[in-house]
Amino acid sequence: MGDSRPTSEFHAGNISASSVERLVAALDAQEGTPGVRRLRAWAHRGLDARPGERVLDIGTGTGSEVRALAAAVSPGGDALGVEPNPGLRAVAEQRTAEAGSTARFAEGDALALPLGDASVDLVWCERVFQHLDEPQKAAGEIARVLRPGGRVALLDTDWATAILHPGEPEVVKALSAAALAAAANPYAGRRLVGQLRAEGFEIDDVGSQALIQDRLETVEPLIRMLGETAVRSGLITEPQRDRLYEELTAAGEHGALHLSVTMFGVIAHRPD
Ligand SMILES: C[S@@+](CC[C@H](N)C(=O)[O-])C[C@H]1O[C@@H](n2cnc3c(N)ncnc32)[C@H](O)[C@@H]1O
Repeated sequence: MGDSRPTSEFHAGNISASSVERLVAALDAQEGTPGVRRLRAWAHRGLDARPGERVLDIGTGTGSEVRALAAAVSPGGDALGVEPNPGLRAVAEQRTAEAGSTARFAEGDALALPLGDASVDLVWCERVFQHLDEPQKAAGEIARVLRPGGRVALLDTDWATAILHPGEPEVVKALSAAALAAAANPYAGRRLVGQLRAEGFEIDDVGSQALIQDRLETVEPLIRMLGETAVRSGLITEPQRDRLYEELTAAGEHGALHLSVTMFGVIAHRPD
């Protein structure tokens, strides 16, 4: 069997300049899907950012949500996106300047946030916990930086819910195993509520949406990465992998491709 370290290129231990373009393309494609749009709209309603509030977006990626939050806390508020990947941070800064947004960015890690105790009113953290080796520590950091009464929107994927169609069941199962092994915390979605409760949060709402991708150009890079891992790990043979790629390509051409994974969201607050 192969190496068991997380291989996701989003993991802070795997940052590479060459992967930035690929990561930005993946985030942009996901941002346009109805499931992500609906989950974000639900979470923004639940978080209810108001003018004058101080908000932190942890693992901001391209910065799309910290820009939305900057607009919501204006005038008088402050929106900071923390991001450990310098390439993603540069993209976020460039897009923010182009959009004329007041959002700011800083280097930082969810496990040791560069902020003081009780220094923010709101926290947004989306699809980051799946990449963390110590997600409970990150939940503790959110509790530390939020003021009493402060609110959090914590959103994440649960990779055990992944569905791929078409494909031989045995091959799809092998790719699912590769996906579970790629993330540091693949069952992130189901653990969010318990992790926040353990840090003293009160839960206000829980929601979910599927992230559904049906375009070959967005599905293919992930499937090829998982397919190669599955072959290397001895889970499938090269002919099985090649047959899968052919089936997926044909399905993509006929509008019959389906890759999905369920995302969960929690809205919670620190008691006063
Ligand atoms: C799937 S992307 C999500 C980006 C953005 N939150 C969104 O939903 O569009 C995961 C993000 O988590 C960041 N990340 C990974 N490890 C992190 C860590 N230890 N602390 C903070 N962010 C981290 C990655 O650099 C990346 O920006």
